[in-house]
Amino acid sequence: MFLWGTATAAYQIEGAVREDGRGVSIWDAFAHEPGRTRDGHTGDVACDHYHRWREDIALMSGLGVNAYRFSIAWPRVLPTGTGEVNDRGLDFYDRLADALLAAGIQPVPTLFHWDLPQALEDRGGWLNRDTAAAFADYAATVAARLADRVPLWITLNEPFVHMAYGYAMGIHAPGRLMLTDALPAAHHQLLGHGLAVQALRSAGASQVALTNNCTPVWPASQEEPDLRAADAYDILHNRLFNDPVLLGKYPDLSAYATELDFLRDGDLATISTPVDALGINYYNPTRIAAPTDDALPFTDASITGHPTTAFGWPVVPDGLRELLTGLKSRYGAALPPILITENGCSQDDVPQEDGTIDDTARIAFLDGHLGAMRRAMAEGVDVRGYFAWSLLDNFEWAEGYHQRFGLVHVDFATQRRTPKRSYHWFRDHLARQNTET
Ligand code: GAL
Repeated sequence: MFLWGTATAAYQIEGAVREDGRGVSIWDAFAHEPGRTRDGHTGDVACDHYHRWREDIALMSGLGVNAYRFSIAWPRVLPTGTGEVNDRGLDFYDRLADALLAAGIQPVPTLFHWDLPQALEDRGGWLNRDTAAAFADYAATVAARLADRVPLWITLNEPFVHMAYGYAMGIHAPGRLMLTDALPAAHHQLLGHGLAVQALRSAGASQVALTNNCTPVWPASQEEPDLRAADAYDILHNRLFNDPVLLGKYPDLSAYATELDFLRDGDLATISTPVDALGINYYNPTRIAAPTDDALPFTDASITGHPTTAFGWPVVPDGLRELLTGLKSRYGAALPPILITENGCSQDDVPQEDGTIDDTARIAFLDGHLGAMRRAMAEGVDVRGYFAWSLLDNFEWAEGYHQRFGLVHVDFATQRRTPKRSYHWFRDHLARQNTET
């Protein structure tokens, strides 16, 4: 069965950050630091999904999806990251899974979508190797409760973005600005992934995947310095997180002048424990030019000539086909089936006087990207699912509530949910798939 779904993440939608024994996460701490998020927005309330989950499942039923990718908040389950389990936290996801199943929607949990327990951050976060083992213990705890009903699990969401934004550039929690010294945060996340794959399987999970954010990399020119920079960027963004998992080795990191002194014997064997699928989050390609200073071996060059989202990201649907066929030629038989675990766009959605939200640009975005996915499938890429980001407008990290990605509009003052025109379009699209298959 092809999985058709929507995706969300715990800190972006749940709210209820102090309820039922939930511990503090790095995003609670970060969002409350002055100047970290736009207008000081926090996820304290977000979409109040922790209380409104029934309504949100009803919205998914109305859409006709057969799967839902959400994330589990580690600090709800283990308030200090390790040790004592908070059963009330697990109860929430247990109820959610049961209600989804009753609605004919397969729960697809992601175990880590960036909300590390603050107690682990206090011991170094993902720079500390022990966090990898703690992650595997947490994975085992959650699976012991849910794996009897939940077949497919995702370990990490976008370890690249967590490393780059959280540890290298200080844009996301935990707000560290370490540039290439952030690489251990990549390795320990990958190690945590590998250990979690093993822990999940032992606890009865039948399928396990990792979700990576991948981007086609376009050199700014065919001149040697730009080509070299593009290759360095491709290594950092794409290959650093795919090669060890799929090939059991790191790409050449010499452009980053780094010693892999965090790498221990056996780590790559753990990291390359076979997965059943690779989750791909695709938003846009990246154009890269030669570096202009010594900080990094590349610079970001803008992409022009395409429509842009409210975020200013270029809309390049065929980039998804390019990415998927590129993964197939790069990894060949080592590439497992693909799940598109996120794809979507932010738009300035303003309700009209009659309450309707006419997000035609989002419809064009989805239509274009679904077409590109199908072209990649026709070219032989084994894609098994597509999850639109996102079900609801939500807390968009450092941008707070300013970037709306939902198929459903949320009025954050009242928590009123209003399906946008794209919701109805996606529903009709899914209904056609069901009659065709
Ligand atoms: C992804 C992330 C999501 C969401 C999306 C849109 O990188 O996994 O949580 O924020 O981007 O920016």
